[in-house]
Amino acid sequence: MPKDRPLSCITSITGTGSYLPEKVMTNADLERIVDTTDDWITSRTGIRERRIAADDEATSDLATKAALKAMEQAHVSAEELDLIIVATISPDTFFPATACFVQRKLGAKNAVCFDISAACSGFLYALQVARHFINAGNRNTALIIGAEKLSSMVNWEDRNTCVLFGDGAGAAVVRGDADSSNTSRRILSSVMFSDGNQTDILVVPGGGSACPITPENAGDKLNTIRMEGREVYKNAVNAMRDAAEQALQKAGLTADDIDMVIPHQANRRIIEAITDRLGIPAERTFVNLEKYGNTSAAAVAIALDEANRSGAIKTGDIILLVAFGAGLTWAATVIEW
Ligand code: ACO
Repeated sequence: MPKDRPLSCITSITGTGSYLPEKVMTNADLERIVDTTDDWITSRTGIRERRIAADDEATSDLATKAALKAMEQAHVSAEELDLIIVATISPDTFFPATACFVQRKLGAKNAVCFDISAACSGFLYALQVARHFINAGNRNTALIIGAEKLSSMVNWEDRNTCVLFGDGAGAAVVRGDADSSNTSRRILSSVMFSDGNQTDILVVPGGGSACPITPENAGDKLNTIRMEGREVYKNAVNAMRDAAEQALQKAGLTADDIDMVIPHQANRRIIEAITDRLGIPAERTFVNLEKYGNTSAAAVAIALDEANRSGAIKTGDIILLVAFGAGLTWAATVIEW
């Protein structure tokens, strides 16, 4: 495992925010769209409802609303931001980056802006990239956002996938602090992994350069999510447990030290399988997927904000964030809150 070089400063999360669109789609609503039941969805996934963005709401709109809340909590103005990273697989457009749309909407004229495509691991990838920028001395005040409008890329005729996903955004302000006595909300360790050998088990196959949408294939819905659910499930459990263990080891901690795990919110059974194997009880596991479904890159960010604002995590708590997504990508981060 590569070791972190000594850090030049402490990197801390100084504010969190989230935004969920108003429209609620329940499992009962889905029963009217595809051949499914509330019982099947809740027993297999734990999801009861999800949020759906309005037609005129783009991913950058969700992202901007989450960002404003994080900036307010961090007492940071738009001008102070010098880095904006948006993690998303449902960008406003192929280009420019969704982060540039967010920059314009915030008026963050001093920020360097780009997107990260790491599916459900995107927010943790963004956190680690921002941390490296800050520790390299290049930037000091980063806004990182996980934001998705997955409803725009779901095949609403495919019951295998459409019941799983939802829209939303979560954000965090990340700052460097040369004062190492300031320990609050500091990132203790991070690990990131990728495995490009399994790009086909969770993919949107069309719409890119490999398979443009043409009049001939337009009916095949190639620009929607395809997933081999059982393969994803198996990989997710093993990868997230492994990432969690490696991040803990890097921080010099064990699972017993964890006050709260905030995992990717895809499926309650996946979360339970991981926490069982780590030996972490349900009361130290934050789960909100019953309300929002899987919001991919936004999921950990939204859960972190809810845990923060609800008091589920408190100053001094040791927090483990862990995620897994298409790519495959997976990552974990340990924070002293
Ligand atoms: N309603 C009713 N029946 C359904 C539905 C549905 N919505 N979807 C599938 N089924 C049927 C299938 O057709 C199958 O029927 P068959 O046996 O007659 O062929 C049956 O249910 C069982 O299907 P399985 O795929 O075996 O069901 P499983 O128990 O594996 O659960 C699920 C499926 C929930 C998708 C599970 O595999 C899973 O959670 N996988 C991980 C998915 C995930 O989390 N993806 C995202 C993570 S990564 C990321 O976030 C990007």
